[in-house]
Amino acid sequence: MNQNDMKKAAALEALKYVQKNAVLGVGTGSTIGYFIDALAEVKECVPGVVSSSEATTRRLKTLGIPVLDLNDVGHFDVYVDGADEINDSMQMIKGGGGALTREKIAAACANTFVCVVDRTKQVNMLGTFPLPVEVIPMAVSYVADELRKIGGNPRLRSVYTTDNGNMILDVHGLKILDPTGMEELINNIPGVVTVGLFARRGADILIVGDEDGVKIQRSATVWVQQDDSRR
Ligand code: 5RP
Repeated sequence: MNQNDMKKAAALEALKYVQKNAVLGVGTGSTIGYFIDALAEVKECVPGVVSSSEATTRRLKTLGIPVLDLNDVGHFDVYVDGADEINDSMQMIKGGGGALTREKIAAACANTFVCVVDRTKQVNMLGTFPLPVEVIPMAVSYVADELRKIGGNPRLRSVYTTDNGNMILDVHGLKILDPTGMEELINNIPGVVTVGLFARRGADILIVGDEDGVKIQRSATVWVQQDDSRR
């Protein structure tokens, strides 16, 4: 099995978490591409999908899957997305595809975050993958200076604008020992829209594709911002 086969195996397994007649949230990336293609085969089961990016919206629409406005949907049950890195606590680095802000919003609105990855994404410590930070254009230089102060080496993603009209700084060289603290610290820098650390709200179910098929892990964590009263 090559890496794409492992991504596809994980994505197909995630179909089991799609609930009949329930709105679904869908992330962005190549792993999610396999998921969307498979979802198209059972599209009659779902009334529509909340999309996390323009790229995902285009793919969904091309396959005839209705795309819903999050403002009309509010909360929904299941969000399926990939990750660039994921640790044993099911905290993630995301945003390699640049969709981190909409992905984080969608994840916040979902009761269950199903993360689909190939085994190369599993790490002991987050930070080998450069941490994406979405930044308001006028603040790029200031935010880069602040990121250097915390030990990072930010590089502007060249010739790239997010779906929200912003820039991305990819921060190299961070050893993320405290993902929740680091998420809060970077989010508090003026000019930062979103940091691609998904630590306060990590994944609830992890599906990992590997050479033997798929492995599934469930989180024992009650995420900081989950609100049980709305379930
Ligand atoms: C996009 C993301 C993706 O989930 C992440 O980059 C993984 O992508 P892929 O499935 O292509 O490896 O966060 O913003």
